[in-house]
Amino acid sequence: MGRRIHGRTYPDNSECGHSMKKKSVQQGWNWLELKDKSGWEIPDGPVMSLVFSLGQNPEIKVYDLGCGIGRHTVFFAAQGYQVYASDISKEAVLETKMWLEKAGLSANVNQGRMTQNIHPDNTFDLVVSFNVIYHAFRKDIVKTISEVYRILKPGGAFYGTLLTKDRGSQFREKGNRIVDEQTIVIKSGVEDGIPHFFSHIEDVFDFFKDFHIESLVYNEVFDTPYNLENVLSQKGWGHFRFLIKKTV
Ligand SMILES: C[S@@+](CC[C@H](N)C(=O)[O-])C[C@H]1O[C@@H](n2cnc3c(N)ncnc32)[C@H](O)[C@@H]1O
Repeated sequence: MGRRIHGRTYPDNSECGHSMKKKSVQQGWNWLELKDKSGWEIPDGPVMSLVFSLGQNPEIKVYDLGCGIGRHTVFFAAQGYQVYASDISKEAVLETKMWLEKAGLSANVNQGRMTQNIHPDNTFDLVVSFNVIYHAFRKDIVKTISEVYRILKPGGAFYGTLLTKDRGSQFREKGNRIVDEQTIVIKSGVEDGIPHFFSHIEDVFDFFKDFHIESLVYNEVFDTPYNLENVLSQKGWGHFRFLIKKTV
């Protein structure tokens, strides 16, 4: 037997289902290991375009969950919003604070786990979490999403990404720890010790069952260099990009 989620059966003792017996693994990126951070210094285009729906209103509260070195925190602070941010990594928090200071901007940045949010219920108009919430076992993703739901105002939006199950197979070959069919812990580099959860579309619908899904986009990130060989070999990442809203 097993547990069925949207037509897919998960074994009872699996992290993919809801029995959730494995110990939680949450660990920050080791940003000090990353030689070239330039790819993380320019805000993502679709994240930037969220300001068109938010408008120019200094009352708006934005939360950058897993802020990294701060590209979106700084961007939203520059729009005049009230910005809050957090990351489990001490270096990430430090870098974000330094960038804000250098830019003459302010935001409330703290170190913390995505599963335990310090903010009160119904606080934020927008939560952005770009390439963050899949760095966990399934049960912690579920917990994180329930925390985001709690801190969003009714009608507030959550923009973020999840890894897709149909990509990333090369990470099974690299001496990484295979936790289960959908979860791999990377064993080297900037992501050493960090889990990656690969979602089926059924998982996405299950994760967001309490939200209204505004848009769900499939986005490929192929390995560099961007040439036909790499595209055809399908090595790289696939992400779901989601924009969802807390129901009013
Ligand atoms: C791929 S980086 C993305 C950073 C940022 N969102 C951006 O788009 O530039 C992932 C970030 O998530 C953070 N992170 C990983 N696991 C976390 C957790 N359990 N709680 C909070 N932050 C976490 C990492 O430390 C890292 O800074």
